Amino acid sequence: MIEVAVLGATGTVGQRFIQLLENHAWFRVAEVAASERSVGRTYAEACRWLLPTPMPASVASLTVQPLDADFRSPVILSALPSEVAQSLEPALAQRGHLVSSNTSAHRMASDVPLLLPELNADHVRLVEVQRRQRGYSGALVTMSNCTTVPVAVALAPLLPFGVRQVQVVSLQAISGSGYPGVPSLDIFDNILPYIGGEEEKVEREPLKILGTLSDDQIVPLPATFSASCNRVPVLDGHTVVVSVKFESPPPLEAIREAWQAFEPHALARGLPSLPDPVLIYTDGLDRPQPRLDRDNGRGMATTVGRLRPCNVLDVKFVALSHNTVRGAAGGAILNAELLIAQGYGEALGLPSLQQSAT
Ligand SMILES: NC(=O)c1ccc[n+]([C@@H]2O[C@H](COP(=O)([O-])OP(=O)(O)OC[C@H]3O[C@@H](n4cnc5c(N)ncnc54)[C@H](OP(=O)(O)O)[C@@H]3O)[C@@H](O)[C@H]2O)c1
Repeated sequence: MIEVAVLGATGTVGQRFIQLLENHAWFRVAEVAASERSVGRTYAEACRWLLPTPMPASVASLTVQPLDADFRSPVILSALPSEVAQSLEPALAQRGHLVSSNTSAHRMASDVPLLLPELNADHVRLVEVQRRQRGYSGALVTMSNCTTVPVAVALAPLLPFGVRQVQVVSLQAISGSGYPGVPSLDIFDNILPYIGGEEEKVEREPLKILGTLSDDQIVPLPATFSASCNRVPVLDGHTVVVSVKFESPPPLEAIREAWQAFEPHALARGLPSLPDPVLIYTDGLDRPQPRLDRDNGRGMATTVGRLRPCNVLDVKFVALSHNTVRGAAGGAILNAELLIAQGYGEALGLPSLQQSAT
């Protein structure tokens, strides 16, 4: 088993890491770290556990470490606030760790892969550029913003039709703002039509994720996105309402077929956390819904439906992903699996583990 350290382990995403890593095929949680508030306490004492499954006993007794600890784990999963991650994550990659981050701090750096492996697993090769340019013996890879996930997964199969303009309206769950998140008096019986910094992320991240790797850089998707992000009183699961204009508008049936036939990127196939299928098309009139569809594929699948013509652009649809699983912890675990499978841990003495046949 490969030992991993979880940074920000006591938070909303950190707890998902701990839950998803229990019984993981390749990884074992060996170290946990959080803020000064938690340092020196056991994980059980420091963490207000909010998930319905029990806290894993093997983690409950770990002592929470400070961020400047000398971590022994070769793999580091980060769920820190962005401002804390800014200098720490590159320093850990410099010191030889494979860092898989959830935070926004380094997502758009030209030599840092922004990975949704089912769509762009080949972008992991930017690690070689990073190692050349920055002298890392480790690596730094990033997971996208949680709202970007359903947008990018739904659009990837449609790229052959020439995606040119995309309008996104999000309905985002409250777990997306961490713990304790937005005050209950603000969100009960209400919708908040502003989430700081979110619209900019949803407008730029898909261009990098859906771009193409050429030599040492990503050529962004030549498209324009406009996003309006809203917080709604849903616990988990981000829904996006998407309208798209194409270079060559396809018939609706061709879009349905593209979604149903979608295969994950070859380099991602067989990774332990990859769901099968990664995209579920539903023709239910009132689906997808957060309560009914967020756990599809153990929370790692994106569900897409309500496909119909758009009177302004060409077509519109609804897509949904689990924000703390596919949109955060599960996604960062998948990215770490990809690093191992592609041999980026070999220099650290880690095995290049085999992906299972699919
Ligand atoms: N929630 C989501 O759906 C989601 C999705 C995608 C990405 N993200 C990103 O993931 C990161 C974590 O989000 P979250 O929702 O899990 O937040 P959260 O619930 O507020 O948890 C924050 C974690 O970071 C620790 N922390 C806070 N300040 C620290 C400091 N100065 N030094 C060391 N540790 C510190 C906290 O430790 P203590 O418990 O000790 O305070 C806690 O473990 C953020 O960058 C967020 O943008 C979140």
